[in-house]
Amino acid sequence: MTTSETPSTTAAELSPEDHQRALGALAEIFLTDEGIADPYSRYAVLHEVAPVLPSLDGSLILSRFDDCQALLRDNRFGKNFDPDREVPGTGENDSEVIAFRRKRAEEQKGRPQSMLGLNPPEHTRIRGLVSRAFTPRRVDKLRGHIEDLAEERFDVMAELGEFDVLEELGFPLPVAVIGELVGVPREDWPSFRSSVTAMTATLEAGAGIEDLRAADTAGREVWEYFIDLVAEKRKNPADDLMSGMIEATFEEDGDRLNDDEIIAQAVLMFAAGFETTTNLIGNGVAALLTHPDEFTKVRADPGLVPSAVEEILRWDSPVQLDGRSSMELADVAGRTVEPNQRVLTLLGAANRDPLRFTDPDRFDVTRDEGAPMSFASGIHFCLGANLARVEGQVVLEGLIRRFSSIELNGELHQRKRMTLRGYEAVPVTVVPA
Ligand code: HEM
Repeated sequence: MTTSETPSTTAAELSPEDHQRALGALAEIFLTDEGIADPYSRYAVLHEVAPVLPSLDGSLILSRFDDCQALLRDNRFGKNFDPDREVPGTGENDSEVIAFRRKRAEEQKGRPQSMLGLNPPEHTRIRGLVSRAFTPRRVDKLRGHIEDLAEERFDVMAELGEFDVLEELGFPLPVAVIGELVGVPREDWPSFRSSVTAMTATLEAGAGIEDLRAADTAGREVWEYFIDLVAEKRKNPADDLMSGMIEATFEEDGDRLNDDEIIAQAVLMFAAGFETTTNLIGNGVAALLTHPDEFTKVRADPGLVPSAVEEILRWDSPVQLDGRSSMELADVAGRTVEPNQRVLTLLGAANRDPLRFTDPDRFDVTRDEGAPMSFASGIHFCLGANLARVEGQVVLEGLIRRFSSIELNGELHQRKRMTLRGYEAVPVTVVPA
């Protein structure tokens, strides 16, 4: 299928050269090691020649901040991509992968889903009930726990002197924070790491059949685990999110979440809040250590910690890609989109949009130009955004306070993942303060 067969999304105003250049950049971002290592110079090509790009598989690719924001806030678009009504040329090419995804979608029909995959009115109901339990007060209360948990990690790091930031801080801290938030007993935290990594592999465009099978198995194991935990919390409620979700009620009609619905949201917390925050920590430390002048500014003025965390989120977003499907014939950034057509929003590109941010490729911890697109926008705006920000701030403030020097002591390599962006390892040497 070529774009010329879908007149509604032809690249009419693009010259053939520009269209080819933009498609080349896009293919590199999704498919090559070079593009995964440096998507940003390729996003710049998209901004320059094709900020609204009809791709060869039939989806539309947005890279401008305002276009991404408008799409994510547009209620004509949603999460219900229906493979049976697929716009010709859209989607996967691997038939085994397509068959597996369809079978899973079929099995999931009628089963409780996490809010992430739902549209209104189901999304409104579930998110409303979870929000009653996931209150700003609960996040505020967690700050003290996060500080204690981080301090434990800093002690270990000070002892070691040389270590991988992801291994010692980036993985253990977020899993502990979500474990604490949800109410998972401490001894069970470590086992969530490999399960969640397996589950999130399916977010990648290149996920193969083995990735999907591993994700399926991990998802079932985590689900089984939570069945017992919900039963336990019903018997012995505690001051945690799972007990809060059991209690949460809409006053008007007494509506509550059932056990399966609660489990689906608990699994989502781990899937959505763990690796993303791991990469916020890893990408953040890497950004500061490769921009020593900016790091010095934060050391000199710890009041810059919140804006430095915002800049890390903008400059190297842990989530690079989001998207929706049209639920009706719609127009996007001047183009017609067919019902059930996919529109992808390149969040990492939106954050480097020169129309939105001054000198967008400069890493500047004093930048004050508004929130980045890293937590998305609209009804699915990240429910854990404040928690993630607090974690980032506690980590950065603690690193400055506890270590008089932090230096990279090895090369940085990106993981081969495009959607959830992060490093394989961030090796450092530290001198305790
Ligand atoms: C730096 C860290 C994080 C980043 C970059 C991030 C990013 C995102 C993004 C982009 C979305 C929107 C997905 C979409 O539009 O389909 C999202 C949704 C969500 N995130 Fe986060 N997230 C982070 C941390 C967390 C944490 C710590 C939690 C909770 C423990 C969390 C819970 C959620 C939930 C529940 C949703 C679904 C909201 C909905 O569908 O209404 N996230 N996140």
